[in-house]
Amino acid sequence: MEKYNYGVIGLGVMGRNLLYNIADNGFSTAGFDLDEEKVRELHNGATPGTSVTGTASLEDFVSALESPRKIILMVPAGKPVDAVLESIIPLLSPKDIVIDAGNSYFKDTERRIADLASKNLHFMGMGVSGGEQGARRGPSIMPGGDLEAFKLIQPMLELISAKVNGEACTAYMGKGSAGNYVKMVHNGIEYAIMQLISEAYDLLRKGAKLSTDQLYEVFKKWNEGEMNSFLIEITRDIFKQKDDLTDGFLVDQILDRAGAKGTGKWTSEQAMEIGVSIPTIDIAVTSRILSAYKDERIKASQLYIKEEVATPENIELFIKEVGDALYLATLISYAQGLALLVKASEEYKFDIPLKDVVKIWRGGCIIRSVLLEKFYTAYTENPNLSNILLNREISEIVKSKVKPLRNTASFAVSNGIPSLGIQSALGYFDAYSTDTLPVNLIQAQRDYFGAHTYQRIDQEGIFHTLWNTENI
Ligand code: 6PG
Repeated sequence: MEKYNYGVIGLGVMGRNLLYNIADNGFSTAGFDLDEEKVRELHNGATPGTSVTGTASLEDFVSALESPRKIILMVPAGKPVDAVLESIIPLLSPKDIVIDAGNSYFKDTERRIADLASKNLHFMGMGVSGGEQGARRGPSIMPGGDLEAFKLIQPMLELISAKVNGEACTAYMGKGSAGNYVKMVHNGIEYAIMQLISEAYDLLRKGAKLSTDQLYEVFKKWNEGEMNSFLIEITRDIFKQKDDLTDGFLVDQILDRAGAKGTGKWTSEQAMEIGVSIPTIDIAVTSRILSAYKDERIKASQLYIKEEVATPENIELFIKEVGDALYLATLISYAQGLALLVKASEEYKFDIPLKDVVKIWRGGCIIRSVLLEKFYTAYTENPNLSNILLNREISEIVKSKVKPLRNTASFAVSNGIPSLGIQSALGYFDAYSTDTLPVNLIQAQRDYFGAHTYQRIDQEGIFHTLWNTENI
């Protein structure tokens, strides 16, 4: 009986598209799903001439695969992954590889790696970004885990992933659950950029009073230059989409309450846990939470009536500055996410190659942008850069955009336009680039009321002072 090269469990849109992509690249593939309908229909979407089969049971699926088996899971993160593992593990043989391609929490992946290793099986966490189309035509793929197991699937991953300048948007992301971790941070950055774009949109419609047609033109222009990116591109297209039910544009009919599946929150939690400052990502997560208070926001808006937003004197200049502000705040969001990866790599001994991370984010994924090309150059020069803001070339870009970022932030503040993301990016930049912060005072306060001690600037050692405690 013919044995198949790869197996995919979970034939939802993402799983099915990934399977077809693998098959299009010359590998025979078998698919399984608990939903029999999805198994039956699998064949219909396959490219003629490719080798694709749907299997009726997990037993059939496992026995259809060549050894060592290479099984990709594309099921929702959490319990479904454990449920699949529980039923499949008894059917597997030593050295088989199970690759989780969902947005799993990295600590779950660590647990599963240990569990499968105790049974002489490999478990790998692999981030996949690019949505449904990406899965089908070329995603960015972030695998991590056992290096030997990775090498067995590497040629396939390089074929199915997106390409930039002939280079595949996939690379080994490091040990253990590094693949899931890198994908989690990717999503954190995704949250930040989406927040910033939405704030730029708000400034343009409320400040420059642009119509949706004009917004389309602005984003179109932005996407043609240094701001070229997937998220700017789809935003441009969103401003073109007419509504089926009314005369206007669809975007104007969508309720302003943002959903979230949790990867952004995990990124923020992680940064707090290991002590990394990523305020723009934190703000993006919390802004989605705040957006859900729709009823309260309506009441508060009636209680605190805002003054009319001033119209900038020079609209052209205002639009340009909002663009520059968005560009720099986006750059700062990447900087925060990448700094988190640097610390996590040390903390969890992942050995994440930062240069490869930015290389494979240049194409296929949701946060792809031409800016990443500059980061790639920076990390090629110095793979151990602790923060991208410290690179000289990047610093030149930053310096050229700080003024517009300040002007945009101050326009938003003085006109009461919510701009948590823009303010936080600027605030992070100002704090990060300040040699003397006022936290000496915090240390004094801590020592005053709690004898928490402090260090001095002129001598080594730990000090405590008997402050004047009459007030306590
Ligand atoms: C990707 C996306 C993908 C998904 C997010 C959305 O890289 O392809 O990030 O993973 O769209 O889960 O997350 P929220 O639902 O939390 O916005």
